[in-house]
Amino acid sequence: MTQLTIAIGKGRLQRGALKLLANVYDASEALSSRRLALEDESGRFRFIFVKPMDVPVYVEHGIADCGIVGRDVLLESEPDLLQPLTLDIGRCRIVVAARADMPPNGYTMLRVATKYPNIAARHFAARGQPVEVIELSGSVELAPVLGLADCIVDLVETGRTLSDNGLCVVEVIAESTGRLVVNRGSYQLKAKAVETLIAALQATICEGA
Ligand code: PRP
Repeated sequence: MTQLTIAIGKGRLQRGALKLLANVYDASEALSSRRLALEDESGRFRFIFVKPMDVPVYVEHGIADCGIVGRDVLLESEPDLLQPLTLDIGRCRIVVAARADMPPNGYTMLRVATKYPNIAARHFAARGQPVEVIELSGSVELAPVLGLADCIVDLVETGRTLSDNGLCVVEVIAESTGRLVVNRGSYQLKAKAVETLIAALQATICEGA
């Protein structure tokens, strides 16, 4: 029997991903346990739970055959992976945001704080805007408030974190939802198992529609 390893990004996508996998996996153990690798009862699927930015790393290296991850992560790391399915989970936007009382001056060097240095650098380079990208790991909204940066490039879901910190959206860079990603080798060598997974996800999507 071929086993398929599926990497799932922890955090905002995890619950939605497990719901979509309901046709192949009873997620109760994953939701109640802190184990980072779990198998389904049949042994056909193994799930590993990793930081979202690490999902493409595991899949590109072939440690995981497939992954469920946000488009934001894929735009940032541009991995060489197949993306056969768009999933309606983890819907959010990647935006430029700044202090509502101090919008960025577009003519001088901008300091941009972000967890997405590549997306930020590409976005401003395309506009010919010189930037200093300041890479942070989280709580990015603090940077303009405390004067570390003029603006941020970050995810917005409800908009609550921005508004609670006195920031507002200046520009939307991209929309993001979940994606199924597949290792190129696994797509060939484990074609049947990958097809089964895609069909199971599609069936759940249709049931929910
Ligand atoms: C993300 C993002 C924003 C927040 C947006 O952070 O970086 O800070 O969620 O969500 P909202 O629009 O619904 O308020 P995350 O929760 O991943 O934590 P982090 O700050 O540690 O990156």
